[in-house]
Amino acid sequence: MGRLSIHKLKEWKAQGRRFAMITAYDYPTARLVEQAGIPIILVGDSLGSVVLGYDSTVPVTMDDIVYHTRAVVRATEKAIVVADMPFMSYQADPNEAMRNAGRLLKEGGATAVKLEGGSHIVPLVRRMVEAGIPVMGHLGLTPQSVNQFGGHKVQGKTPAAAAKLIADARALEDAGAFAVVLETIPAPLARMVTERLAIPTIGIGAGPHCDAQVQVLHDMLGIYDDRRPLKHAKRYAVLGAAIRDAVRAYIEEVEGGAFPTAEHSFEMDEATLAELAQAG
Ligand code: KIV
Repeated sequence: MGRLSIHKLKEWKAQGRRFAMITAYDYPTARLVEQAGIPIILVGDSLGSVVLGYDSTVPVTMDDIVYHTRAVVRATEKAIVVADMPFMSYQADPNEAMRNAGRLLKEGGATAVKLEGGSHIVPLVRRMVEAGIPVMGHLGLTPQSVNQFGGHKVQGKTPAAAAKLIADARALEDAGAFAVVLETIPAPLARMVTERLAIPTIGIGAGPHCDAQVQVLHDMLGIYDDRRPLKHAKRYAVLGAAIRDAVRAYIEEVEGGAFPTAEHSFEMDEATLAELAQAG
């Protein structure tokens, strides 16, 4: 049957069908989210914060993303897998950007790549699409520029910033992007962008009017008690506490002798045991 086509997403938008995207970075979680019915998985550079222990996405490398994309692709059959292009893998040199995007498809097995930025990356997006590399855009609070923004602040709040964001979204669509992530912008602005584009908008902290939503898996699963993403992250489970409780129970049972029992052990036949006893 193969993976979902990126072109389906535009059809879904035309039909008014909303959809969810989620991040995943490894084999078990990618398998689980696909089994749950997710049509599109992002191997985001949020990898840096939620899996690799960095305090931003900036240190993530091409090799990190290729490695994790391969695991996600091995785990899935149907979902579109989008691989994030890490900081400085596409900003410095367009030829290097093309080679890096190619690596994510050839070595990683991704269906598409995602790049942060507006009009300044439009020529690159066009070149990638012409070369056969599907591109997802990303506007608003683009985490790779967090140092430039001076923190995680809502973007597009002034008339000029909002107009630029709308123009950037249109330019990305014209360059051939198949979807655009809108991160941490006012909901009415996300609505305007969504109404003006034929390609789907995928919101995170962009309100309810986008065609789709994306969440960071570890935030929605409640893996961390002390990671405080902006208010757009919703917890659907508290797995951090559940994992700690399970490991504590295991430690107690090992220390107290309650695990393992006969149920978890392997027996030997009586004759072999008698032979061994005789042999001394
Ligand atoms: O890296 C990531 O997880 C992302 C999403 C927040 C859109 O870019």
